[in-house]
Amino acid sequence: MKKFISVKDLPSIEKAIETAFEIKKNPYGFQHLGKNKTMVLVFFNSSLRTRLSTQKAAMNMGMNTMVLNVTEDSWQLESEMGVVMDGKNAEHLREAIPVIGRYCDVIGVRAFAKFEDKEADYSERILTQFVDYAGVPVVSMEGATRHPLQSYADLVTIEEYKKVDRPKVVLTWAPHPRALPQAVANSFVEWMRETDYELVVTHPEGYELAPEFMGDVKVEYDQKKAFEGADFVYAKNWASYTHYGQILSKDFGWTVDEAKMALTNEAKFMHCLPVRRNVVVTDGVIDSPNSIVVEEAYNRQVTAQAVLKMILEG
Ligand code: CP
Repeated sequence: MKKFISVKDLPSIEKAIETAFEIKKNPYGFQHLGKNKTMVLVFFNSSLRTRLSTQKAAMNMGMNTMVLNVTEDSWQLESEMGVVMDGKNAEHLREAIPVIGRYCDVIGVRAFAKFEDKEADYSERILTQFVDYAGVPVVSMEGATRHPLQSYADLVTIEEYKKVDRPKVVLTWAPHPRALPQAVANSFVEWMRETDYELVVTHPEGYELAPEFMGDVKVEYDQKKAFEGADFVYAKNWASYTHYGQILSKDFGWTVDEAKMALTNEAKFMHCLPVRRNVVVTDGVIDSPNSIVVEEAYNRQVTAQAVLKMILEG
């Protein structure tokens, strides 16, 4: 595997699941693959889970790691081509990326949507330049439109907890005080479409995800109806795609609560974290035995390691 930007970069979904369970059983069994190799993790945005889980995954694989926080540690980097660089940005990605690539064997990059320019976000302007200029494999630690390391962990978590071969999985929009990117939701839909699970997406009108991610996935605008018989409820906020980056609703009627979870087939509750308690989900739901958010977060380490294994094996 030469890069990990989307589910399409995997050899197959079956191989991805198999590799994750292989790592889970034997986390320190593949250190020879990473001996004398280095991973650089480049963060344009904040992180808790991605930073720690990816770094730990690389260490478990026997690799050395270096972290670059672009907003704090480094020169401010320009991403637009052809600009006159007489502003705050001191260095262009066009030089910075191949230089970083010379110091390491794998680069991880986190670069969120900025909501300034839909075309720049949906063409993955920063991530694409890393892939094009790094000279080494690149792993997305969340781009503008996808969060594949998260979706991979979500998939493995569902595989671990599912009680039927074809579970009903519901992705529900939930309120949030800030405008958040569509990346987690886009990516979750993209990965679930690679399985044979029953997937239902529910959100208020105006929050439709980009058609290239949704395909023919069913949208149910009635959240309670969507929850009926669900085996997994995955909550996430995202800002509008059509009214790009705007908050159209902060309706707490969409908060995931005990009454809605009672409509499900004793569904497991999932969220990528961080989560706003009593906004996205009530304390009663996230603290219940059916909440699997911590195991889901642990699987970020497992699946990051699985990605590195597939990359290091070439
Ligand atoms: N889920 C996730 O990516 O968490 P962080 O933003 O803390 O890395």
